[in-house]
Amino acid sequence: GRVEKGGHKHWMSKEIHEQPAVLDASLSHYLADGLTEGPLSEIDLSGVRRVVMVACGTAYYACHVAKYWIEQLARIPVEIDVASEYRYREPPIEDGTLAIFVSQSGETADTLAALRYCKNQARTLAVVNVPTSSIAREADAALPILAGAEIGVASTKAFTCQLAVLACVALKAAADKNRLGPEQITAEGEALRRLPALISTALRGEHDLEALSRNLSEATDILFLGRGAMYPLALEGALKLKEISYIHAEGYASGELKHGPIALIDESVPVIVFAPSDALFGKTVSNMQEVMARGGRVVLVSDREGLAGQSEVWAKVEMPHAPDLWAPLLYAVPAQLLAYHTAIAKGTDVDQPRNLAKSVTVE
Ligand code: G6P
Repeated sequence: GRVEKGGHKHWMSKEIHEQPAVLDASLSHYLADGLTEGPLSEIDLSGVRRVVMVACGTAYYACHVAKYWIEQLARIPVEIDVASEYRYREPPIEDGTLAIFVSQSGETADTLAALRYCKNQARTLAVVNVPTSSIAREADAALPILAGAEIGVASTKAFTCQLAVLACVALKAAADKNRLGPEQITAEGEALRRLPALISTALRGEHDLEALSRNLSEATDILFLGRGAMYPLALEGALKLKEISYIHAEGYASGELKHGPIALIDESVPVIVFAPSDALFGKTVSNMQEVMARGGRVVLVSDREGLAGQSEVWAKVEMPHAPDLWAPLLYAVPAQLLAYHTAIAKGTDVDQPRNLAKSVTVE
C-alpha cells in the first residue's frame, strides 16, 4: 500500500524523492573526514595507470559519466564496457590497471563473470548497493553506495548514489596522482556536497514536468541529446523512458546528430536536450537549432542562464545552476521524472515494467 511507500503511489516515485537524503548520507560517509581519513583512505590509487569500468544497464551509464570525471580530474585513461561484451572479448589487461565493477544488486551474472575474468590480472573494486553480494565479496575491495533498498525495477536512487561514490573515487584518484592539491580536493568535495540540496530544488519543479510528460506520452519516438558528461545522461534518459513507458527512445551525443539521427527529425519527434550553461553549451545550442530548423520540437533542460533567450524551443525545463563538473547528478532527476510521468500518462506499470527484471542473475 501507499503507507510503506511513504505516501507515494509507486516505489519509483518514493525512490526518486529519497535522493537528497540518501545522497547526503552517502557523500557524508565518503567525504566527512576528508579523503585522507574516510573509507577511501585505505585505497591507494597512486599506482593506477589505467581504469577499466564494467557494468550493465543504468550502472553502465554511471561508469560512462565517471569516465569523464576520472579522465579530467586524475588524467588516467578510462575504458568502459558493458559486462556482456567485456567478459567474452578477452581484453588484454595492462599492469597498473584498476578494474571497477558497478552493480546495484551485486549479483548481475555478466558483471560477476567480468569481475572473475579480471581477478589475478588487475586490482578489482566493487561499487555496489548490497554489501553482502557476490560482486562485493569477490572484489579486492567494495564501496557501498548506501542508497538503501531499491525496489522499483527502473534504477533511480542507486544511479545517483553510484555517481556520488564514483565522484569521490575520481577525487581520490586526482589526490593520489597529485593532480589536485588538498585545497582543490576540499573545494570540489564541497561543491559535490551541494548536490543533494540542488536535487531537492529540482524535485520541487515536478509539477511542470508532469504537464510536459502528458504531451510526450503521445509521441512514438523521442530523442535525447547531450554533450560531454551529459551524453551518458542522454543515454540514461532514453533508457529510463523506454523501460517504463515503452516509447521508443534513443540517446545520442549532440555532435552525432548530423551523422544519422537528424534524418528522423520532424514535428512528431520530441528532442530532449540536457545542456547546462557550461563550456559546451554553445555547441549544443547549434545542434538544437539544426533540430528546430527541421520542425523538431525541442525540450531544453538547462539552468536560467542557458534558458534565457532560447525563445524558439518548444518547452523549457529549469534546473538550478550546478557546479559544471557535478551537474550529471542533478540532471538525472529530470530524466527520471520525465520517464515516470510519461509512463503514468500512458498507464503502464512503472514499478514492474513488462519483460524486465530488477536483477539479472542468469545470462
Ligand atoms: C537490470 C535492471 C536495471 C539495472 C541492470 C544492472 O536490467 O532492470 O535497472 O541497471 O539490471 O543491474 P545491477 O544490479 O548490476 O546494477
